[in-house]
Amino acid sequence: MNTYENRQKELSNEPKTWLITGVAGFIGSNLLEKLLLLNQNVIGLDNFSTGHKRNLTEVEKLVSKEQWGRFKFIEGDIRDSATCTSAVSDVDHVLHQAALGSVPRSIADPLTSNEVNISGFLNMLNAASKEKVKSFTYAASSSTYGDHPELPKVEENIGNLLSPYAVTKYVNELYAGVYAKTYGFKTIGLRYFNVFGKRQDPNGAYAAVIPKWTNAMIVGEKVTINGDGETSRDFCYIDNVVQMNILAATAPDESKNEVYNVAVGDRTTLNELYAAIKSALLTNNIKATAEPIYLDFRPGDVRHSQANIDKAVRKLGYRHSHRILEGISEAMPWYINFLINRDLD
Ligand SMILES: NC(=O)c1ccc[n+]([C@@H]2O[C@H](COP(=O)([O-])OP(=O)(O)OC[C@H]3O[C@@H](n4cnc5c(N)ncnc54)[C@H](O)[C@@H]3O)[C@@H](O)[C@H]2O)c1
Repeated sequence: MNTYENRQKELSNEPKTWLITGVAGFIGSNLLEKLLLLNQNVIGLDNFSTGHKRNLTEVEKLVSKEQWGRFKFIEGDIRDSATCTSAVSDVDHVLHQAALGSVPRSIADPLTSNEVNISGFLNMLNAASKEKVKSFTYAASSSTYGDHPELPKVEENIGNLLSPYAVTKYVNELYAGVYAKTYGFKTIGLRYFNVFGKRQDPNGAYAAVIPKWTNAMIVGEKVTINGDGETSRDFCYIDNVVQMNILAATAPDESKNEVYNVAVGDRTTLNELYAAIKSALLTNNIKATAEPIYLDFRPGDVRHSQANIDKAVRKLGYRHSHRILEGISEAMPWYINFLINRDLD
């Protein structure tokens, strides 16, 4: 048995109480699904600013009635410190996912991104530290590498930040380090690279590239590519992210007070991504005919991104379960069903 299998077995034998912030979002709802399937007790906090009730309804359908009975939802905002304090009460593990994602959103409205991603983060960190929870794992970001030219990215070497969003995520790491030094409260930051999978929102101005293009190709709209299409990313399937959260939460003390890359270690260009989605749709009998349209490069975007995942492998026992093509073929039927049935809330 590998580390992840062992940890899942231990949790099933001795269930814990978890708090997932941002539980109605893409990553949060996938964490919820996995933890309920492992018979854990879960508290979820969300204000539905970018998350959806439909994500919770879908999880309810995927678990047993008894498992769903172990979930308690709090509708609330992490900018309110009293809400954070009451949410962490009697919790063992915190998985802090709530934030406003997207580089362009933060460029359009840096003040709100700052309030949610920095003040909200600090409220959660402070509440969890006071409650002395067993573990606090938070969503950091690969945007923290900024303009550092090294490839693949190693945790220690970051460059100049390129967006307000990147600043917010880096400040999270700084606060986490200070809380370890000042209060002895050790956390783990997970620098997610471009995550994708079921329940990632395909709609709205700030949709991520995979759901956005999948949506466009299914409904017959044009796909727009920012730049020449040779921009590259280390696309990371949601199951790898769920695994890393569980490994981080249950990690020994010596692996804490650290940040870890969460990715695969591959690099895929946008042109390759377009071809991969098109081919996965074809496998599902959907023929996308529109050719992509190339636009200007987007401000704040890094040109290339690829992770070195050695640290996660060495210190947390991480073994990615999916590379990009496996993830895309697993996610595609969900998108087809979602976009064709369109049962939006
Ligand atoms: N998806 C990615 O590729 C990626 C990459 C790097 C980092 N991240 C980080 O991972 C986390 C989860 O991202 P996601 O892709 O699931 O996004 P998402 O938008 O689907 O989920 C975020 C959730 O947080 C909730 N939320 C936002 N502001 C809140 C507030 N003030 N109070 C309570 N809840 C609030 C939203 O309603 C939403 O349900 C975020 O912290 C994001 O910055 C994501």
